[in-house]
Amino acid sequence: MSVAIILGTRPEIIKMSPIIREYERRGDDYFILHTGQHYSYSMDRIFFEQLHLPDARYNLNVGSGLQGEQTGKMLTQIERVLINEKPRAVLVQGDTNTVLAGALAAAKLHIPVGHVEAGLRSNDRMMPEEINRILTDHVSDYLFAPTVESRQNLLREGVPEEKIFVCGNTIVDALFQNLSISEDRVDPLKELGVLSGNYLLVTAHRQENVDDPGKLSGILEGLERIAADYAMPVIYPMHPRTRKMMEQFGLQAGSIRCVEPLDYLSFLQLEKHAGLILTDSGGVQEEACILHTPCATLRENTERPETVTVGANILVGTDPEAIVEGVRVMMARERAWQNPYGDGTTGRKIVEIVDAEE
Ligand code: UD1
Ligand code: UDP
Repeated sequence: MSVAIILGTRPEIIKMSPIIREYERRGDDYFILHTGQHYSYSMDRIFFEQLHLPDARYNLNVGSGLQGEQTGKMLTQIERVLINEKPRAVLVQGDTNTVLAGALAAAKLHIPVGHVEAGLRSNDRMMPEEINRILTDHVSDYLFAPTVESRQNLLREGVPEEKIFVCGNTIVDALFQNLSISEDRVDPLKELGVLSGNYLLVTAHRQENVDDPGKLSGILEGLERIAADYAMPVIYPMHPRTRKMMEQFGLQAGSIRCVEPLDYLSFLQLEKHAGLILTDSGGVQEEACILHTPCATLRENTERPETVTVGANILVGTDPEAIVEGVRVMMARERAWQNPYGDGTTGRKIVEIVDAEE
């Protein structure tokens, strides 16, 4: 019997890639079910091509929509596939609507669910992702917690100890597997005309930030001020949600250089060589920490507190004054912190655990 890997968005493709590669290496029976939550070439297909991932056996083409509408469409269609395929386990990764739909459909069919990146908590239920994380964790059978802190979160909520496996985050595997390939294959600094250490890299797409005109304009103002203070270009590969909201609110980017979302190999290089990263992305907070590039997070909270504890990250929110101050602090920070997310063998550990339970 096979294992179903359910994914649907950019970060899930990247963070599932080490698990997919491990199944390929072992020649095990597995298949990919893509919900189609992300569908633009630059948010989806480009990652399959660049990471040499096999095509999904199913693409549900669910697309965009309201939270319940999108999740509901996925749930209905995932259930049909799972009834048909009868996998021995389902793996989901992270905190998107795809993850909740996949986990819920499988749990109701009594198919064991493995949640990769379990136990993260921002303690902020205004985020759709926080609801998805909590619900997914509580219907899962294998909780692959990246750190001891995420394990503690689960224990605090009464998740039985024997279901929890602390095994790092597959983002480290993905980064290690692709960084040297990236160095050989792409040169985004040259393409963008920037110098190592002499530009700022930005990503921001969280619903609670960019769907709020006050917060989005606060971020843009903060970025403009930093660009002027440090005389550095600000490169902003812009998520389609943010682009849409900028147009809707009639906001201008000023001196900020907005570009299309980038391929993974180019983005890794840009993260590695940035003077500083500003982001509200979960994965980018982790990658900045692993790459030893200081990070200022454009949020009031984070479900990745380990990055703050080790000194790699600071929470600055969306107020321009606080963004400027946070950047000042991080620019002066020694880059000597330890990566808290493991040694790049998480994918293999997860596959071994799921296989051992057969
Ligand atoms: C989703 C996840 C978020 C994750 C992010 C990764 C949820 C609740 N949110 O947010 O946790 O961090 O993916 O990037 O699951 N759009 C396109 N092309 C696409 C995809 C989206 O143009 O391929 C635009 C559409 O206008 C859409 C908007 O982006 O309405 C938002 O897409 P959606 O999938 O609802 O959420 P994300 O913001 O991408
Ligand atoms: N990423 C990318 N190109 C970009 C921006 C991000 O390849 O232009 C990658 C980044 O390296 C990370 C992942 O996308 O691995 C993060 O995804 P995102 O920020 O969309 O989602 P989140 O992590 O916040 O859920």
